[in-house]
Amino acid sequence: MGAHRALKPEDYRRVLERARTHGFWVASDEAYAEVWFDAPPPSILENGLENAVALHTLSKRSAMTGYRSGFIAGDPRLIEGLRRFRPNVGVATPDFVQRAAIAAWDDDPHADRQRERYAAKRRLFLDDFARRGWAVEGSQATFYIWMKAPGGDDVAFVRRLMRVGLVATPGSFLGAAGGGFVRWALVPTVDECREALTRLDAMTGAQS
Ligand SMILES: Cc1ncc(COP(=O)(O)O)c(C=O)c1O
Repeated sequence: MGAHRALKPEDYRRVLERARTHGFWVASDEAYAEVWFDAPPPSILENGLENAVALHTLSKRSAMTGYRSGFIAGDPRLIEGLRRFRPNVGVATPDFVQRAAIAAWDDDPHADRQRERYAAKRRLFLDDFARRGWAVEGSQATFYIWMKAPGGDDVAFVRRLMRVGLVATPGSFLGAAGGGFVRWALVPTVDECREALTRLDAMTGAQS
């Protein structure tokens, strides 16, 4: 986690060079491509389509997780293969979901507004954590904030949170490398996030 850094365009260039030399595909999960704050992240497709595909979803950009809708774009050879393969496996997306998805993909301004909402919530939490001296790690983009668990034990810290009605994810639940870290998901409303910070005051006040 300490070694965390944002993906750079040259990272994609390097891996694609190898893919094109040795003949493998690179699939880039770009689910959070629109949930950024300082600058939009690079896409693998900026390096040409050959051997590359990008996966996108409405789950993050539009908070339409339940629609199970997204798209894959990239090397026409792979897209053609998927076009032949896909009708034979799984189930077709219902028409009304397809219509909702078309409307959502056609509407970029709502994704901008969504990003602004996440930015506002993020500001609240980052300022609050800085005031408490809690160390945020990585977290340049997406609606998650990762921080070092105060006291060092992520599960013990999340237990304390739950006593004041707050839920965050202990990093160790996501793998050994997450031990000692806590992940906040800024998915409630702005008002609920403000309320969460008030409860944090109650929790830390009760402890001190
Ligand atoms: C990095 C990443 N990729 C993909 C997904 C899943 O996207 P979808 O809801 O379209 O399956 C998620 C969401 O959980 C995610 O965090």
